[in-house]
Amino acid sequence: MTTGPLTPEFFGEIAELETEAITALEEATDLDALDECERVAFRSKRSRFAELYQQLGSMAPEERPEAGRLLNELRARLETVAEGRRMELMAAARAERLAADHLDLTEVLPGHLAGHLHLVTQVREALEDVFVGMGYEIAEGPEVETGWRNFEALNIPEDHPARSPLDTFYVDFGEPWSVLLRPHTSPVQIRLLQRGVLPIYAVAPGRTYRKDTPDSTHLPVFHQIEGLVVDHGVTFADLKGTIDTFVRAIFGAGTRTRLRPAYFPFTEPSAEFEMSCVICGGEGCRTCAGVGWIELGGCGMVHPAVFEATGVDPEQWTGFAFGFGIDRIAIMRHGIADLRVMIENDVRFLGQF
Ligand code: PHE
Repeated sequence: MTTGPLTPEFFGEIAELETEAITALEEATDLDALDECERVAFRSKRSRFAELYQQLGSMAPEERPEAGRLLNELRARLETVAEGRRMELMAAARAERLAADHLDLTEVLPGHLAGHLHLVTQVREALEDVFVGMGYEIAEGPEVETGWRNFEALNIPEDHPARSPLDTFYVDFGEPWSVLLRPHTSPVQIRLLQRGVLPIYAVAPGRTYRKDTPDSTHLPVFHQIEGLVVDHGVTFADLKGTIDTFVRAIFGAGTRTRLRPAYFPFTEPSAEFEMSCVICGGEGCRTCAGVGWIELGGCGMVHPAVFEATGVDPEQWTGFAFGFGIDRIAIMRHGIADLRVMIENDVRFLGQF
C-alpha cells in the first residue's frame, strides 16, 4: 500500500478500482447482487474505496485536497453507475411481475358459454324429426287466430266452456270475441284443410295460451304439437299405430300406449292417449298417481263436420288428428317434477340440457 505523496500507484489503484467496480456493478444480475457489489466496492467500512480513503491520513497536507477530490469523484461515478443499474434491474423485475400477473381478457375458455336451444325447443325438434321420418311435413299457424278457425270450423258449439273469456285470451281486434290467442294448435288443421292439397300428412308444433294459473302441471303459455292425416281409407288402427310409433321413438322401445274413450267436438270417435309411466314402467307410483299410465293428449278420427266446413268431401276422404303438450313430453322425458322451471329462465336448470 502506498504512503506519502500522490504516487503512480495511488492513481493506478483508483483506476483499477474504478474499472473492476464498474464491471461488477454493471454485471449484477439482481438487486441483492447489486447491493453486495456496492458494499465491496465503496459502501462498507472495509470496502476497497475505504482502504484508499484511509491513505489520505498519511499523505502530505498539501496533497490531501487533490487526492480527496479524486476519491470523491470516483465515488460519485460509482454511485451513478450503481444507480443506473438499479433502475434497469427494477424495471426488469416490474416487467417480469406484470407478465406473471397478465390477465388476457380475450382468452376463449372451454365450456358452455355459447348457450344452446331451450329444452322445449330441443324436444320439439326431436318430435319433428320423428314425424319427418314417417313422411310428415311440418306446418305452422299463427298464435293469434280467428274464433272461426279455432272453434266454429272445429265443430265447437257456441256454449262450449272453452269459448268463455274465463278460459281463452281474446284479442281486442275486429268483431268482439272474434280474434284470440289460440288455446290449442287444432286451428292449424283447418288451415291445412283449407289449403285444399290432399292427401295431408302434417304436424304443426307451436305456442298456445290458456287462462290457467301456473302450477306444477299447467302454464298459461305452453306448446302443443298437432297431427293431421287425411287420405283415402285411413283407419283408427293407423292412428293407434302412429301414436305407438312416435311414443316409442321419443321414450324408448319398451314404452306402451293405450287409448281411452273421450270426447272432442272435432273428432269422432275420440280418445285420450296414454303411455306407460316412465318412472315406474306401469307398476304405479307417485308420478302416475298409482295408475301406471300417463295421459299425453287427445286424438280421434276427423269429424265429417270439419271436412264440410273446409270444403273437403267426407265421402271420399278420411283422416285422424291428434294433439298433445310438448312441455309435458319434455318433463316426462327428463324426469322433471314441475313444469314451471320451463319459463323461469334459470340458467342453472337450463344449462343441464
Ligand atoms: N286440441 C285438443 C286439446 O287441446 C287435443 C286434440 C287434438 C284432440 C286433435 C283431438 C284431436 O285438448
